[in-house]
Amino acid sequence: MINTQMIPKAELHLHLEGSMKPRLVRQLAKRNGLIVPEDMFAPDETYLWKDFLDFLQVYDKATVVLKNQQDYRDMTYAYLEECARANTLYVELIYSPDHALLCGVSIEDSLEGVIQGIQDAKRDFGIEARILLAFVRHFGVEKCVKIAQWAAANPHPLITGVNLAGDEINFPAEQFSEAFRIAADAGLQCTTHAGEMAGPESVWQAIDTAPISRVGHGVRAIEDDKLIETLIQRNITLEVCPGSNIALQVYPDFAHHPLRKLKDRGVKVTLSSDDPPFFATTLANEYDNAVRYFQFNENELLEMTRNSLNAAFVDEATRKALLARVRI
Ligand code: ADE
Ligand code: ZN
Repeated sequence: MINTQMIPKAELHLHLEGSMKPRLVRQLAKRNGLIVPEDMFAPDETYLWKDFLDFLQVYDKATVVLKNQQDYRDMTYAYLEECARANTLYVELIYSPDHALLCGVSIEDSLEGVIQGIQDAKRDFGIEARILLAFVRHFGVEKCVKIAQWAAANPHPLITGVNLAGDEINFPAEQFSEAFRIAADAGLQCTTHAGEMAGPESVWQAIDTAPISRVGHGVRAIEDDKLIETLIQRNITLEVCPGSNIALQVYPDFAHHPLRKLKDRGVKVTLSSDDPPFFATTLANEYDNAVRYFQFNENELLEMTRNSLNAAFVDEATRKALLARVRI
């Protein structure tokens, strides 16, 4: 089998709060004098949850250990260090301002920590990262509009986009068009989860009501030929997270997952890990699985990394410099 360690990687879809391994959660809890319920952890450094909505709740429970700027810095640095050691050039971190507020940390303090973590990791490992602000669907439209307004008033070169996340079934994308409009008008690039927990109609709604150039997951687009054609025509890149989709039972196993079909139909696909310790995966593992279960060869893996960089929410000089590093 191909040794994917050598393959340069790039990740467009990673929830920063969802990147914390149980060991880090325990460590931060101890540092902050908190007790975390042990029943949310599995023995193998992953988390226990039952279904999508339960996963979102366990995610919130793990996040509450973040109490200050240093915690946000350490979480960010730990994730980027691991990625850099697996030859990852670039990561987009989906950071949730509303989760920071839930933890009692201000948006400013938490973001200072994230930015410090990015700068330290770049200094130590040469890895680039950017921040996407999460709009969390089930926290409501008003909160998302507030985040968009905050972002418009507080531009930062490392904050380059927004991503609508959370409960796709009960909170359809069209409800969030004002939040997207404010973000886009402020120069932020936009993507949204769609076609993960809901079907192709959710992807149609996302691409027709939000100013997006990418779709998070989007895998259920495979059920609709016209939609596949439209994704290709509009040059929309999919942030595919196969390990997450299987853990959340969007598909029963890799044999049923449409990654290979989407690629062969001509859709631009990329690989991401979503919330790695929740789904017992890593970005490196996703590249391995693309070889093992979807028969991707070296050139196809490199093509996915290039697809990520071509769709990345970065300035053109950074994109060009990163693309130049995609070689074995
Ligand atoms: N928030 C964190 N992970 C998510 C996922 N996979 N889908 C929707 N919202 C999320
Ligand atoms: Zn996600």
